[in-house]
Amino acid sequence: MSKRLEGKVAWITGAAQGLGKEIAVVFAREGATVVLTDIKDSEGQAVAKEIGAQALYFHQDVSIESEWKELTEKILEKFGKLDILVNNAGINGFEGGHGPQDPEHASLESWRHVHAVNSDSTFLGCKYAIYAMKKSEHGSIINVSSRSGLVGIPGAAAYASSKASMRNHTKSVALYCCNQGYKIRCNSLHPAAILTPIWDPTLGSGPHREKKIAAIAKDIPMKRMGEPDDVAYAALYLASDESKYVTGIELILDGGLLAGAGASPHKEE
Ligand SMILES: NC(=O)c1ccc[n+]([C@@H]2O[C@H](COP(=O)([O-])OP(=O)(O)OC[C@H]3O[C@@H](n4cnc5c(N)ncnc54)[C@H](O)[C@@H]3O)[C@@H](O)[C@H]2O)c1
Repeated sequence: MSKRLEGKVAWITGAAQGLGKEIAVVFAREGATVVLTDIKDSEGQAVAKEIGAQALYFHQDVSIESEWKELTEKILEKFGKLDILVNNAGINGFEGGHGPQDPEHASLESWRHVHAVNSDSTFLGCKYAIYAMKKSEHGSIINVSSRSGLVGIPGAAAYASSKASMRNHTKSVALYCCNQGYKIRCNSLHPAAILTPIWDPTLGSGPHREKKIAAIAKDIPMKRMGEPDDVAYAALYLASDESKYVTGIELILDGGLLAGAGASPHKEE
């Protein structure tokens, strides 16, 4: 059986760890040449080395337009095409140094920073991917938004707003490409509670980490946090030609979290 991404060139941002790393590993296993980018260079280089000859790593800060421009040209020069872009790099503002993230106390500076990394980067990624893919027969852009882009998150307001912007821009890009006759699809992924390093500031590393994970899992209908491959396999579907009629959708990966609501009626036992 042929591999699902045989012959394709995929660019994955934020690929030094977490979801980006897993997406790169799964895409490479399915035959893609993977271009990994991140600001954590030694970790990113190590991931590329682990994947092997099919992987290349480049430094890229996704909030800087000139870095998108330069890398797009580099990829086109080296491979002659780009088939898949995964706008995955993202932050939630809890990395340290950004202060409170709630609507009352967050600073304008930290609000702008979170939006620059999450939503400005999505705008830039889509813009340069359209440029690179518009002559292609099968372009696929995947924007890694979040469950937080679909609901309010009082303790991470900039994150939620930036992820909502990614969700909406995905649909504008999808329709724009259809209107222009470009064969580029654009879809968003909406994961929730996937256990990756983004959770470290929330979970800590001490003895309470496991208890905190269990408390999060308790609120999820499937009673567990997600694993990186829960997201990577969804990205694989959207990246492959199996999803050739799918554009502008939002695919939720949340263990059932958004399927229901609190205060739902139930019969007293
Ligand atoms: N893990 C989850 O529960 C979850 C849920 C919903 C959405 N997401 C989204 O999935 C994506 C990946 O998250 P993750 O869980 O793997 O997080 P992570 O923190 O493990 O990985 C994010 C990666 O992005 C990189 N990055 C940060 N700022 C960057 C910049 N300016 N330029 C380039 N790279 C940068 C980091 O260095 C890191 O390698 C993010 O967009 C995140 O918002 C994650």
